[in-house]
Amino acid sequence: MLEPIKVVVTGAAGQIAYSLLYQIGKGDVFGQDQPIIMHLLDIPAMMGVLEGVVMEMMDCALPLVRGIVPTADPAVGFGDVEAAFLVGAMPRKEGMERKDLLAANVKIFKVQGQALDKYAKKTVKVLVVGNPANTNALICAKYAPSIPKENFTAMTRLDQNRAQAQIAARLGVGIESVRNVLIWGNHSSTQYPDARHALVKKGAEEVKVTDALPDTAWLQDQFVTTVQKRGAAVIAARKMSSAMSAAKAAGDHMRDWWLGTSDGSFVSMGVISDGSYNAPSDVVFSFPVSIKNKQWTIVQGLAIDDFSRGKIEQTGQELVEERQEALAVCED
Ligand SMILES: NC(=O)c1ccc[n+]([C@@H]2O[C@H](COP(=O)([O-])OP(=O)(O)OC[C@H]3O[C@@H](n4cnc5c(N)ncnc54)[C@H](O)[C@@H]3O)[C@@H](O)[C@H]2O)c1
Repeated sequence: MLEPIKVVVTGAAGQIAYSLLYQIGKGDVFGQDQPIIMHLLDIPAMMGVLEGVVMEMMDCALPLVRGIVPTADPAVGFGDVEAAFLVGAMPRKEGMERKDLLAANVKIFKVQGQALDKYAKKTVKVLVVGNPANTNALICAKYAPSIPKENFTAMTRLDQNRAQAQIAARLGVGIESVRNVLIWGNHSSTQYPDARHALVKKGAEEVKVTDALPDTAWLQDQFVTTVQKRGAAVIAARKMSSAMSAAKAAGDHMRDWWLGTSDGSFVSMGVISDGSYNAPSDVVFSFPVSIKNKQWTIVQGLAIDDFSRGKIEQTGQELVEERQEALAVCED
């Protein structure tokens, strides 16, 4: 058994956290040999609800959970944490555009960046889930200058999981037969879900998805828009934003960051852009990454055709605009 690590989940009284805390506590994220002290951060008005979450966490009787610390104080919540799930934010409501959310949420991530800078371990791995996730991650990193920028990532794993599920369903295969489906850019309706580099197992062989599914019209149109609009479709049906699937994706993202990816497999993560694939620099852009020793590397050398180039440019442009708006809000 390893020494316990401290892990914070913000928005701990909210609906994503309700599924996520259990996954973390039962060892799905940091491994079955990693005990955890869970820091649960929310706002003062939610402390009553959080008490109920703490009771339920206790009642799950999870052997890896060595402590539960509910708090509304960022100094306590972020104190010495090695991993942070920044979920807490105002969720998108039906009919609400991402831009409306930006002004409301970006300030939260400025304050939390400052708190991470002050109280967290310098090696802390930060996953931003709260929307607009990419730009929130950028702002959070900016206000935590003593922590490397590489330690701040944004979640596009839910989009990747959605895309992978669409491809598997279309091909009539199990989800585990499909890998390397990608999401480029922003976690928004401009994201570019890309199956051009994806592989599917067919018997003993692995073939390109584009060979197994030679339907360019579907791959360029319906597939892309279904994934882009899936969040809105869930809101329209459930009257609340995706929660169970978002929590699963947050666990997947952090697990791969913590434990690594296997050879030849890559995953999508919003990371600080170095301008790879002609994406704009210094925005948090979703790229294909591979991970070793808790360090991600952008996968290089994937062939980009004109269709992909256009989509990457469009989503990059949106991130540049979001950055400008966010910086203006933060400097107010
Ligand atoms: N990146 C993604 O793929 C993805 C997917 C789904 C949802 N989301 C986003 O995740 C966020 C959370 O969604 P949810 O459904 O759990 O929302 P929710 O409203 O159920 O919970 C949010 C919680 O955050 C808390 N909170 C607000 N401000 C806080 C602060 N400053 N510090 C700590 N806690 C704070 C609230 O009190 C609430 O308990 C939303 O922004 C949503 O849009 C992202």
